[in-house]
Amino acid sequence: MNDHTRLRLRLFAGVISLLLASSAVFADEATTKKKDAKFSKKGADTCLKCHDEDNEYPVLPIFYTKHGERNDGRSPMATLQCETCHGPVGKHKKKAKKGKKKAPIRAFGPKAWTPPAEQNAVCLGCHSDHNRLNWTGGPHESTAMVCGECHVIHTRRDPMRVADSQNEKCQSCHLKQKAEFQRTSVHPVRFDKMRCSQCHNPHGTFNDKLVKTATKNELCYSCHAEKRGPKLWEHAPVIEDCTLCHFPHGSSHNALLKKTPPLLCQSCHGSAGHPSVAYTGDGLPSGTASPFLLSKSCLNCHSQVHGSNHPSGVKLLR
Ligand code: HEC
Ligand code: HEC
Ligand code: HEC
Ligand code: HEC
Ligand code: HEC
Ligand code: HEC
Ligand code: HEC
Ligand code: HEC
Ligand code: HEC
Ligand code: HEC
Repeated sequence: MNDHTRLRLRLFAGVISLLLASSAVFADEATTKKKDAKFSKKGADTCLKCHDEDNEYPVLPIFYTKHGERNDGRSPMATLQCETCHGPVGKHKKKAKKGKKKAPIRAFGPKAWTPPAEQNAVCLGCHSDHNRLNWTGGPHESTAMVCGECHVIHTRRDPMRVADSQNEKCQSCHLKQKAEFQRTSVHPVRFDKMRCSQCHNPHGTFNDKLVKTATKNELCYSCHAEKRGPKLWEHAPVIEDCTLCHFPHGSSHNALLKKTPPLLCQSCHGSAGHPSVAYTGDGLPSGTASPFLLSKSCLNCHSQVHGSNHPSGVKLLR
């Protein structure tokens, strides 16, 4: 996808989600009118008459989670209980008449009949401020994604909290990144020793590519603190952006490098004079030129590629 089609898709998705948002208001009014906006008198007990442990969908595990905590005033279970999320029960609490469909109630998840904007508004009603979600306008919101695409409410442990289920979910859509994590040098996502959310905030950020931190280097420093500096002799690209030389996900070269030296170094350092001459006149490494190519190439001498603290390390040699 090039940038233009991407932008157009985003604009298109934006318009759709606006339409959905406005239709959600109407849908809400319509369904509310139909069901006479009646909340049940007995809260969860009303629902649990039918939605018990024999039910096809296991609703009870919610009572092991924070949403099932009755003693926390912020929790749905402390107020309207099930109906805090699912809306007023209305005629849904009655058995369906023979040959008729049962009255609907607000449902969640990517396949549910309830429009995405209405589903998300319920969750955002409690999760817009205190959990630092910048959902609105983010790339996932713009594709009309619902919270229930990733989160599961009626389960003991939310799958987003567990590395393997989180990585699997993200990679089910992001196939290119899935492939990048199969390369030879990688951040260990493949073995679930690391998860996408250690580097990304999937809800939305003010930063490029949903990266958690304001700059990419801030992200890298958070784990590779020894690279932070300040160094006596800095190497300009290192303090500018680690991803000038490294792929963040994975690479077929050593150490997540975009290219191997000398090519990596030569992509910035011109070939006039010593700096990037790795070949002899006939294009092959000679006895004198071999240190430029063999083993660690330029790094044979310029070992301090991330900057040096040695008084005479100006050329990053020590
Ligand atoms: C009289 C029994 C009964 C009661 C009481 C009841 N339900 Fe249901 N509910 C059902 C049945 C049966 C279905 C499956 C209906 C269908 O397939 O159309 C269902 C479906 C649902 C669905 C899926 C809706 C959809 O359209 O996909 C949700 C969500 C739900 N119920 C929540 C609740 C909640 C919350 C309460 C309490 C406020 C409640 N139910 C009370 C019997 C009941
Ligand atoms: C009535 C308010 C309320 C509503 C509505 C609500 N939540 Fe929550 N949610 C909470 C509270 C309170 C917590 C616990 C927060 C804490 O301990 O800091 C929580 C926690 C969570 C967590 C973290 C769970 C964990 O394992 O720590 C997730 C994820 C979450 N909610 C998602 C959702 C989604 C998705 C929806 C909509 C389907 C939703 N919430 C609706 C109040 C709400
Ligand atoms: C693309 C998948 C995805 C979607 C869609 C999504 N989330 Fe999340 N959410 C996550 C991940 C991943 C985490 C982080 C889990 C971790 O690393 O602990 C998370 C964490 C949370 C938390 C806990 C935050 C905290 O600081 O502890 C809440 C609350 C939450 N999400 C609510 C929502 C709400 C509300 C929506 C819909 C508006 C939503 N999420 C949509 C993937 C998603
Ligand atoms: C925090 C919001 C929230 C609360 C509170 C809540 N639910 Fe749900 N419910 C959801 C979401 C989101 C789903 C979609 C599947 C999932 O995440 O587990 C769902 C799914 C369901 C389903 C399956 C619907 C289907 O599509 O087949 C039933 C039935 C249900 N809930 C009943 C209940 C009952 C009964 C209670 C009270 C004991 C309750 N819910 C409380 C958010 C909530
Ligand atoms: C249902 C499919 C789906 C799931 C699941 C999903 N994404 Fe996305 N993601 C998208 C789409 C569609 C976009 C927007 C299109 C694009 O820019 O590639 C997007 C955009 C992104 C972007 C921004 C890309 C950019 O170029 O700005 C990042 C980063 C991202 N997702 C990470 C994640 C993470 C992390 C998870 C898991 C917590 C996740 N996604 C789960 C579909 C998904
Ligand atoms: C070690 C940190 C890290 C981890 C772990 C990570 N990412 Fe990223 N990701 C980044 C950075 C940094 C960028 C920005 C790259 C750029 O701007 O050149 C990025 C970019 C992206 C993009 C935008 C397109 C692209 O490739 O540039 C997507 C989509 C994405 N990541 C998805 C994921 C998914 C899905 C996972 C988990 C399977 C994941 N990332 C794990 C750091 C990480
Ligand atoms: C959440 C912590 C974390 C973040 C953030 C992170 N890394 Fe890493 N990084 C690791 C871990 C853990 C390893 C070790 C992998 C192993 O031993 O298999 C690693 C390995 C590496 C390696 C390869 C080391 C080798 O010898 O093969 C490079 C290069 C690297 N990271 C660069 C980066 C860059 C660049 C960023 C920022 C875009 C970054 N890392 C962000 C945790 C992190
Ligand atoms: C000018 C290119 C360049 C830039 C920019 C760069 N690196 Fe590197 N990095 C390298 C090279 C080359 C290696 C391989 C070193 C080796 O093989 O001894 C490496 C190796 C690494 C390693 C693994 C070996 C070690 O030294 O621990 C980590 C971790 C790492 N880089 C992190 C980072 C971080 C974090 C940044 C940003 C602050 C960064 N790099 C910026 C070129 C670069
Ligand atoms: C993204 C571009 C880029 C890459 C890739 C790069 N460098 Fe640099 N390098 C620079 C810049 C910019 C400077 C600062 C030049 C200046 O101050 O005149 C610099 C400075 C240096 C210096 C110090 C020069 C001096 O005069 O003090 C050395 C030595 C050096 N780089 C070696 C390397 C090696 C070895 C590699 C490959 C591992 C490499 N560079 C990769 C951009 C790059
Ligand atoms: C055999 C050791 C050795 C190798 C291999 C080597 N260099 Fe150097 N390089 C040096 C020394 C020594 C200096 C300092 C020369 C001086 O101070 O006049 C230097 C200086 C530099 C400078 C600064 C230029 C200047 O005008 O001061 C750059 C840039 C540089 N090297 C890049 C590279 C690159 C790129 C490679 C790989 C293609 C490489 N070097 C391989 C030893 C080496």
